Amino acid sequence: MKFSRILGVAAVVLLTTAAARQATAPAPAAQAPAATATASPPAASQPATTAAPMAGGAQVTAMPEPVTAPVAALADAKPATFGDPKAGQAKAGACAACHGLDGNSTDPQYPRLAGQHERYIWRQLHLFHSGQRQNAIMSGMAAALSEQDMRDIGAYFATQHAGAGVADDTVIKTGPNADKKFYQVGEALFRGGRAADKVPACLACHGPTGRGNPGPSYPALGGQHAGYTVARLQYFRGGGVSGTGKDANNVMTEVAKNLSDEDIQGLATYVEGLHAATAPAVAAKSN
Ligand code: HEC
Ligand code: HEC
Repeated sequence: MKFSRILGVAAVVLLTTAAARQATAPAPAAQAPAATATASPPAASQPATTAAPMAGGAQVTAMPEPVTAPVAALADAKPATFGDPKAGQAKAGACAACHGLDGNSTDPQYPRLAGQHERYIWRQLHLFHSGQRQNAIMSGMAAALSEQDMRDIGAYFATQHAGAGVADDTVIKTGPNADKKFYQVGEALFRGGRAADKVPACLACHGPTGRGNPGPSYPALGGQHAGYTVARLQYFRGGGVSGTGKDANNVMTEVAKNLSDEDIQGLATYVEGLHAATAPAVAAKSN
């Protein structure tokens, strides 16, 4: 299937910033159905140095784990306290129209925030607020937030569970990856990188199930809408740096610079289907 995504049953209307800010009691956003990613096998706890087996028998040369550069500390990183998820839940009401009540946006043009780490959300909101990350909608949304609000909202979304989409298992027709499926191209890169082009394995920082790392603020990617991941990778490939001055972090600019369009599409769809196999056992309803 071609880039299938979960399209919400409720069409989320693109609100103007002003209208969205007034939305104190937003309509309950439709919960993203917990779809199972058919194309993504539960990521095994494979070490970064193990290349993922490819369908065609091809082997990917694994890159050694890169030294994980810490994310630049925010210039004015002095939050009053760590985030309070309860306070954050109330504050996140203004975000529900686009990102979903629990951070699982049903409209793929808005990134999922559910399960994202507090520090990462706080950092991005700080960047929007200070104009270091440019987006017309989000600079408006972040304008009124205090550093503590950003922390609280981050803590709230961090406690929510990210749903996952379905990865694209269309077969590539031509080129060096002919006969492989899109998600397999992404899987190989995600797990093994591509040494020849200095592309590191994504799991070194974002983890085998795409959960990221809350400490150094490596964002969770698993389940993210493919279109958003494509846009972010294209931005980084084009030389975009996250943050400016003291807050600048060019880790992803380096990672993405040698990715092809096909790589990006494969990665984005693999990531959309990526999730930890943590489905709870279901009690039998009858004998
Ligand atoms: C009108 C729609 C809309 C509303 C309302 C909205 N956002 Fe966003 N948000 C977006 C869009 C669009 C993006 C993607 C921006 C980009 O591509 O850079 C985004 C991106 C983000 C990101 C970056 C995610 C990432 O993975 O880097 C965060 C964090 C975020 N929003 C938080 C919030 C919070 C908190 C609120 C409420 C206070 C909110 N948003 C309200 C549309 C919205
Ligand atoms: C050395 C660590 C490292 C490696 C390796 C790495 N990343 Fe990242 N990635 C980061 C950091 C740090 C950020 C957040 C930058 C910031 O603070 O804005 C990030 C951000 C991202 C984002 C943006 C997420 C969002 O919500 O907006 C995407 C997408 C992404 N990485 C994909 C990848 C892919 C795909 C690969 C493998 C090809 C990869 N990364 C390899 C550290 C890494």
